[in-house]
Amino acid sequence: MAAQILDGKKLSAEIRAKIKDETAALREKGIVPGLAVILVGENPASKVYVGQKEKGCLEAGFASFLHRLPSSTSQQELLGLINRLNADASVHGILVQLPLPPQIDPDTVLAAIRPEKDVDGFHPVNIGRLAAGLPACEPCTPKGIMRLLRTTGIPLPGKEAVVIGRSNIVGKPVALMLLAESATVTICHSRTKDLVDHVRRADIVVAAIGKPRFVTADMVKEGAVVIDVGINRLEEGLVGDVDYAPVSEKASWITPVPGGVGPMTIAMLLENTLEQARKS
Ligand code: GUN
Repeated sequence: MAAQILDGKKLSAEIRAKIKDETAALREKGIVPGLAVILVGENPASKVYVGQKEKGCLEAGFASFLHRLPSSTSQQELLGLINRLNADASVHGILVQLPLPPQIDPDTVLAAIRPEKDVDGFHPVNIGRLAAGLPACEPCTPKGIMRLLRTTGIPLPGKEAVVIGRSNIVGKPVALMLLAESATVTICHSRTKDLVDHVRRADIVVAAIGKPRFVTADMVKEGAVVIDVGINRLEEGLVGDVDYAPVSEKASWITPVPGGVGPMTIAMLLENTLEQARKS
């Protein structure tokens, strides 16, 4: 079977067009959705992501407040900025780009953001609400993955979903969201025994490990849906965590890299920010 493409570029463009219209209507009421993005240091990938987020904001008609801080920034200085943004009514969303330099504890910083402004969905309150099945600001990449899965029309209840990777940004929250949709969820990670056996059982595979072409065709069940969250920058260009060409011969649906999950993350960030602006 040759897989159908889960086109995140196309779906995210549709979502962003809708957000743009809704933003225009909100602006008529005097509300301009505002997103503050904080970048500490010079991580090259982070610079690219932050640039994309700023561009997305401006295209949607949002106010974008970009704070570029030197890598020598202290935790106290960063917490001071977050406190000011927490109190600023023109800021509806606050995002601290990760990773942070070693002198700054990310858990302390993420917990300092007001949960209502936590458009990344990383605050312990939002993670807890997600785990409890309560309405929460959901993390953007997992939310984008669920939106892509919805477009396949495949019912999720009872499906075997295998998530590879246990990060707070993707693996854990996407597992919770799949569980909330009544999938049977397994999280595999670096210490998992017989990882290949788990993946071979999966109707849905989410690869979020950060290892180029880790998921090979022999690991994938015929007809599985394969979601590739990997963005590995190699000399040959961007490569996902899935060995795309051979796996797409076996899968029923697959996300390409680039143009799959990546664009959905920004669309969901804009959606979360718009939602908070509406509530303000
Ligand atoms: N670093 C890698 N992915 C993300 C993300 O989704 N949000 C933030 N804040 N940092 C990241």
